Amino acid sequence: MANNKRIFIETYGCQMNVYDSEIVLSILEKEGYTPCSRLEDADLILVNTCSIRENAEQRIWGRLDRFMQEKKHRKTTVGVLGCMAERLKQELLSHPAVDLVAGPDTYRELPQMLRNLENEGDKQIDTRLSMRETYADIEPVRTDTGGVTTFISIMRGCNNMCTYCIVPYVRGGERSRDPHSIVREARQLHAAGYREVSLLGQNVDSYLWKNPENPTETVNFAQLLELVALVSPDLRVRFSTSHPKDMSNGVLYSMAMYPNICTHIHLPVQSGSDRMLEKMNRKYTVAQYLERIDKIREIVPGAAVTTDIIAGFCSETEEDHQATMDLMKKVRFDSAFMFQYSQRPGTKAARHFEDDVAPETKTRRLNEIIELQSAISLELNRECVGHTYEVLIEGTSKRDTGSLFGRTSANKVCVFPALGHRPGEYVNVKVESCTSATLLGNIVK
Ligand code: 5AD
Ligand code: SF4
Repeated sequence: MANNKRIFIETYGCQMNVYDSEIVLSILEKEGYTPCSRLEDADLILVNTCSIRENAEQRIWGRLDRFMQEKKHRKTTVGVLGCMAERLKQELLSHPAVDLVAGPDTYRELPQMLRNLENEGDKQIDTRLSMRETYADIEPVRTDTGGVTTFISIMRGCNNMCTYCIVPYVRGGERSRDPHSIVREARQLHAAGYREVSLLGQNVDSYLWKNPENPTETVNFAQLLELVALVSPDLRVRFSTSHPKDMSNGVLYSMAMYPNICTHIHLPVQSGSDRMLEKMNRKYTVAQYLERIDKIREIVPGAAVTTDIIAGFCSETEEDHQATMDLMKKVRFDSAFMFQYSQRPGTKAARHFEDDVAPETKTRRLNEIIELQSAISLELNRECVGHTYEVLIEGTSKRDTGSLFGRTSANKVCVFPALGHRPGEYVNVKVESCTSATLLGNIVK
């Protein structure tokens, strides 16, 4: 069904958005659209957006102005997809560059919306959220270049209601995807040469599929992990994101049992102060978080733990901030994503709490957190020097074309001379030196 139209899709935000863009490409390829890599060549420009922090949205407004320039000298259609589309709806549609606005659960409607736009010329919007849509039957068009590692979405939405977070509002309620379709996708990827899949969800630990024909038949996340691990011993399995209140020992036992389930847990703590955790509605205390860390280290020795931290949440004091730094020193995270609190309209925090930490204080606290984390990451990487790790080769190093890069099971990036090896192979790498972000080494037998 060729229509000779070219589509350019730009993706912001998390890995889930990358996956969703691939779903969109798959839906539109069936309508005859072909992807192109330059916005200047596109008949249809789509931007898949993120609302998590204000600066994410600011960038998108900037892009819309750029698309407007493009529209001034040729005919193109511009569509806004994803989280910001869901949050801002008509406000985005009113932008002169925008022809179409579609929320994360309406991508199946895109072909019809595009036809309406073409036939009737009216701007199109659909931002209905669904309690059922998981796009389970749609095979995404993979846009990663390496062909070695990729993502599989296992659930959508979120029911957690952390007070700072926009996600439940823009992604809707939590729903788990049929495990058979997940395993099928993993098998197809393995057959196509992929050697690592990351299972994605806002809160993977609450994955729970109930067979609609037989509600007593259920699959939880620990069981799903095993099912995917059994696809092939040479297909690595990762997952993200875990929630400290839900991460079960069952998941840890699955990790310990299958060598191809990677020994890395992303376990966002957000703050090291019980008062802040309560105010964030995280539903765990620092003591409970530390208990989960102890269990990880007991059941999966050598596992890497990474985290997310927010600096300067409403009413955060110097003591709260120090408590976060103390927790970081105790846990010694392998790495962290660290952010300043950004108030999101409509969230509980925006409605009920004052965003009262001065911007310069937020920045200073964030910088202290970043500095501490980078010192800890460096120390932990130094402990790897002299050790040998199995690395899955992902591609050629950007800095040195004679070198390859890949990751250890614990998700540490490793760079080493190629010696004739190729992406997709597993090699053993002896670490010789490191920075806070990378291990440098050589392939050994
Ligand atoms: N401000 C700053 N950071 C946020 N995150 C989520 N919402 C906000 C916000 N309003 C961070 C959390 C979360 C990560 C994906 O983004 O740390 O774990
Ligand atoms: Fe992903 Fe959340 Fe950003 Fe949406 S708002 S793209 S779910 S990080």
